[in-house]
Amino acid sequence: MGHIQITPSILNADFARLGEEVGRIGSADWVHVDVMDNHFVPNLTFGPTMVEALARSTDVPLDAHLMIEDADRNALAYVEAGARSVTFHVEAAKAPVRLAREIRAHGARAAMALKPATPVDPYEDLLPELDMLLVMTVEPGFGGQKFLDLCLPKIRRARELMNKHGVETWLQVDGGVSLDTIERCAEAGADVFVAGSAVYSADDPDRMVAELRARAEA
Ligand code: DX5
Ligand code: ZN
Repeated sequence: MGHIQITPSILNADFARLGEEVGRIGSADWVHVDVMDNHFVPNLTFGPTMVEALARSTDVPLDAHLMIEDADRNALAYVEAGARSVTFHVEAAKAPVRLAREIRAHGARAAMALKPATPVDPYEDLLPELDMLLVMTVEPGFGGQKFLDLCLPKIRRARELMNKHGVETWLQVDGGVSLDTIERCAEAGADVFVAGSAVYSADDPDRMVAELRARAEA
């Protein structure tokens, strides 16, 4: 297992002041940018132009989570926009191995996401192609949803498969992660934690990043 990393999602930040909002999480390992196209999920957020502007506004690397259809055709634009890690959904990719290789070849970390009802076992052989696997712990689309405990066995299973294959793949969780739920995720084997509303509803987002980190490391 890698070291613990905390990745605030700006989905619940003030979109009218995004540059400042990103400045409030200087101790984060990554900034998680939720890209939604109103087709793969019923919500619409950023495109590559916004990602490029964000990348210029912070030294913290960007982790782009693409909740978009036709990931095969659209993902590389986010690498070119400056995201250092790009996550596509396996449910939206026709050729996930080729796509992961392309993302890596263009210089970003390649990650693949699973919605809550998508099992991990069929993708066991893909793990060596991935720098990170994202196990969603809510249905993608919105911040502030309740953590789904039913996803915990899949986190555990993903960690088992990573150990079996001896890969360095990071295991990220996203959705409903808070001081109440982060320990469960860490105990199941996750090492990269996305937290949106927990961080941006705190008076001091950067202090919440530290508190989440301490709890995951405990
Ligand atoms: C949901 C997004 C998440 C979201 C998490 O579809 O992928 O990254 O911002 O928000 P919270 O932490 O509030 O569940
Ligand atoms: Zn996300």
